[in-house]
Amino acid sequence: QQQPAVGSKSFTAVAINCAAKAGEWIKTKLGNHTSLSLKYSAQDLVTEVDKGSEKMIKSLIQTHFPDHSFLGEEGVEPGPEASAKALQSVRDAEYLWIVDPVDGTTNFVHGFPFFSVSIALAYKGEVIVGVVYDPMRDELFVAEKGKGAYVRGKRMTVSPDDTLKCSLIATGFPADPTYALPLNMKGLQALVPEVRNIRSGGSAALHMAYVASGRLSGFWEFGLNAWDLAAGSLLVTESGGHVTDTKGSLYDIGVRNVVATNGHIHEEFLGVLAKADAAG
Ligand code: IPD
Ligand code: CA
Ligand code: CA
Ligand code: CA
Repeated sequence: QQQPAVGSKSFTAVAINCAAKAGEWIKTKLGNHTSLSLKYSAQDLVTEVDKGSEKMIKSLIQTHFPDHSFLGEEGVEPGPEASAKALQSVRDAEYLWIVDPVDGTTNFVHGFPFFSVSIALAYKGEVIVGVVYDPMRDELFVAEKGKGAYVRGKRMTVSPDDTLKCSLIATGFPADPTYALPLNMKGLQALVPEVRNIRSGGSAALHMAYVASGRLSGFWEFGLNAWDLAAGSLLVTESGGHVTDTKGSLYDIGVRNVVATNGHIHEEFLGVLAKADAAG
C-alpha cells in the first residue's frame, strides 16, 4: 500500500483528528441548531450542523490528501438512486474517504444524545481505516485493517454469546415504506421471540461500534448507505465479528442491507431472517 508522503500525518491520525474536531463542534450545537430541512421524506432530516461537519472534515482531508476521492452523505442528492450513482462514480478510486458527518441526525435534532461521526478510508474498494466517534460520551472507536480495533485505546473483542437466546441485538427502522420497512418489520417479529432483547438507538455507525465492542451481539438494518457502514464494518471484523448482507454475502462498500454480528450467532441470525422471508 502507498504510504502517506513524508511529513504528512498517517491516514488513521487524520481520520481521528477529523472525527474529534467535528464531534466537538457538533456537541456545542446540540439544542441550538438553527436550520432544519427535509430531504427525501419527512423522516430524512438535515441541519446546518450535518453540512458544516462534512465541510470541516472534507477540507481537513483534502489538506492532507488532495489526490484522494471523497464520498460524504451531504454531498449526494437525497434518495437511493442518487446514492447508488454517487458510490458507483467513486468506487474504483484508489483512495476513497467515506464520511457520515452526523450519523443519527434525528437524535441530534431531538436532543437524544446518541449520534456519531463516521469516517472510513477505502483502498481500491476495501476499507483499511474506520473511525467512529461518539462526542457525547467522548468515545472513539478506531480500526485499522489487520491491526485490530480499539475503543478509548483499549483493544475490542466481540461478545462471546453463541446463541440468539442470550443475545442483545439492535436494528434501525428504514424510512422506505415500500421495500425496506416491511422487511425490517417481518424480521423484527421473527427475531423478538428468539433473542434476549432488541434495541434501536438511532445511529447505525454506533450500533456497529457496539457490536465490535461486545455491547451488542448483532445488528441488522435495510436500506443503509456506504457512509453508514464503511467505518463500522472494519470495527466489527477487526474485533473478530462478521459482516454480510442480509442474504449472507460478505460485506463490501456497496452493501445496503446489513447483518453484523459477533460471528457466533451469524448463521442463526441469517436463518431466522430467511425463514421469516425477511432477508430481501
Ligand atoms: C441514519 C441512522 C439511523 C438509521 C438510518 C440512517 P443519518 O443515518 O444511521 O440509525 O436507522 O437508516 O439513515 O441520516 O442520521 O445519518
Ligand atoms: Ca441523513
Ligand atoms: Ca447515517
Ligand atoms: Ca448523516
